[in-house]
Amino acid sequence: MALYSEKVMDHFLHPRNVGVIEDADGVGEVGNAKCGDIMKIYLKIDNDIITDVKFETFGCGSAIASSSMATEMIKGKPVSEALELTNKAVAEALDGLPAHKMHCSVLAEEAIKNALEDYQSKQNK
Ligand code: FES
Repeated sequence: MALYSEKVMDHFLHPRNVGVIEDADGVGEVGNAKCGDIMKIYLKIDNDIITDVKFETFGCGSAIASSSMATEMIKGKPVSEALELTNKAVAEALDGLPAHKMHCSVLAEEAIKNALEDYQSKQNK
């Protein structure tokens, strides 16, 4: 059996939503101390809807595939729905990740949550 699903390979080789949003409404950055990988998420939010999302990931293939899938899953969604995205849902959407690569999808969940918190704290100012 192949280690990675076709979906993981597809999102790793052709990642969606790579890049930076200069005037982002929320930015989130997380790192994993063990593997040293870093993920950054940029959100554009209009009327509580995520109208655009971009990511930069300095990390492994699974982290790139997870960020690509996670950004696709929250694009066009309300903030409340994006806050509920779990790493499990991202891994499932990728048709699974090897057990030792699950933490890569956690990075995607955390980066999105950070970016949403950044957006919310700016709103409250
Ligand atoms: Fe650490 Fe993938 S090995 S994010």
